[in-house]
Amino acid sequence: MSIKAISVSKVYSGSINKGYKIDAVKNVSIDINEGSFTLISGPTGSGKTTLLSLLAGIMYPTHGEIVYGNIHVSTSNDNTISKFREQFIGYAPQNTLLIKELTVLENVLSPNSFYKRSIKELKSSAHYLLEKLKLINKKNFKPCELSGGEIKKVMVVRALVKKPLFIFTDEPCSELDNESTDDIISLLYEQNSRGSAVIIASHNRMVLKENADFYTMEKGKITEYKKGGI
Ligand SMILES: Nc1ncnc2c1ncn2[C@@H]1O[C@H](COP(=O)(O)OP(=O)(O)O)[C@@H](O)[C@H]1O
Ligand SMILES: [Mg+2]
Repeated sequence: MSIKAISVSKVYSGSINKGYKIDAVKNVSIDINEGSFTLISGPTGSGKTTLLSLLAGIMYPTHGEIVYGNIHVSTSNDNTISKFREQFIGYAPQNTLLIKELTVLENVLSPNSFYKRSIKELKSSAHYLLEKLKLINKKNFKPCELSGGEIKKVMVVRALVKKPLFIFTDEPCSELDNESTDDIISLLYEQNSRGSAVIIASHNRMVLKENADFYTMEKGKITEYKKGGI
């Protein structure tokens, strides 16, 4: 199983600034294979978040094709695509999307309530992950009682809890100290060694596993590809 982007482009048109158009992603092709470890780095504004959203099925490309296994997104119905996403994709977005009325644990479990796994299994996975990121003592806290870094960690746990085949994390370490960064990266490595593909977008360059796929983006294009760490 793989996720492929074939010559995808995304053009945003301004709803506030009329006539504003930006090619956020330009003619990008990339393959994400099962079990791979991928870093997409590049400066702010280079299109990393947009590319991740296209790959994770959060938005559709303006041109080009996204293919999940043998499902072509442009010719499939929304139901087929959302089932695939629900089953196989975990996504930790760059911006916070926690529900402020819910506790940490409830937030972590909230997107997974309709997924075909027992609540017992999801809860035990949530406890394991919160423990790993040293957040278990805050499982009953509300988001307003957490630091920015702790919120980032909760978002990562929420993406991992259903043990998805593809884990997308957008700037997972941007507000974290070194120890927390190490905790998150080693957790992502662990999930990868258990079979999940991990895709990280980050404006910081980071040291990676030897067999990682390393892409650099600039102005909407992939300008460099290397196999291995940096
Ligand atoms: N929803 C949007 N509407 C209009 N422009 C956007 C939107 N999202 C991103 N952009 C623009 O697209 C470009 C790429 O953004 P983004 O994908 O967030 O880059 P990165 O994650 O590398 O910082 C930026 O110039 C940004 O301003
Ligand atoms: Mg971004």
